[in-house]
Amino acid sequence: MIEKDAAKIGRMFSDIAPRYDLLNRLLSMGIDRRWRAAAIRKLAPRAGGVYLDVATGTGDVAMEIFRQNPEAKVVGIDFAHQMLVMGLPKIKSTAIRLGRGDALNLPFRGGTFDGATCAYGIRNFADLHKGLREINRVLKPGGSIAILEFTTPPNAFMRGLYLFYFTRLLPFIGRLVSGHPEAYTYLPLSVMDFPAETRLKEIFEECGFVDVTVAPLTFGISGLVTGRKPVR
Ligand SMILES: C[S@@+](CC[C@H](N)C(=O)[O-])C[C@H]1O[C@@H](n2cnc3c(N)ncnc32)[C@H](O)[C@@H]1O
Repeated sequence: MIEKDAAKIGRMFSDIAPRYDLLNRLLSMGIDRRWRAAAIRKLAPRAGGVYLDVATGTGDVAMEIFRQNPEAKVVGIDFAHQMLVMGLPKIKSTAIRLGRGDALNLPFRGGTFDGATCAYGIRNFADLHKGLREINRVLKPGGSIAILEFTTPPNAFMRGLYLFYFTRLLPFIGRLVSGHPEAYTYLPLSVMDFPAETRLKEIFEECGFVDVTVAPLTFGISGLVTGRKPVR
């Protein structure tokens, strides 16, 4: 298990914030946008609904919710101030609010949101169960989740290619463009340390979600977890 020190992780994301979007597009060859769009299609935001984007970073998921339904309201929270600062100029509507907050101690009353998302944030949580229980707490009964996280492809050939890219090329390009010595070495380590698909499903269920599905995206490089809080 790698150590997940919240203060250190927050600082790391603040440090890379100015180059974060550029590196996302570059390192995923633009596919990350499609993954976010696919997650929000599953969430199916409705007009007048209120949605929480946990670990919103520079706000791409919050923006995608708005793009798919401009009549939904979105709140994005993140503990890395600089990520939010980089996100703010992208926000084109008062229906979207970004603010500072810790996913493990969400600053909202229970039963506030119709749905919640978190893209590539949960593997950074110092306590995954606590973070997922917090998301569950702030959802209304029947509220939905759509959570994206990096996974490791199940196919041996694809996994070999992917691990070569992820552990050799990506840290090199990431370090070069971001100037950060560790952030893009931490990325593959945190992904490889993350629970596999079947365990992930169990963890979501242990945290109170039902109808949990884990769908692989792009050969299983990314995974999309959907589910909902039971009505009672
Ligand atoms: C890889 S970025 C993803 C950002 C954004 N969701 C996206 O799709 O681009 C991970 C984000 O999670 C945030 N994060 C990690 N742990 C957090 C926590 N406990 N509370 C709030 N934000 C957290 C980091 O600050 C960072 O902005």
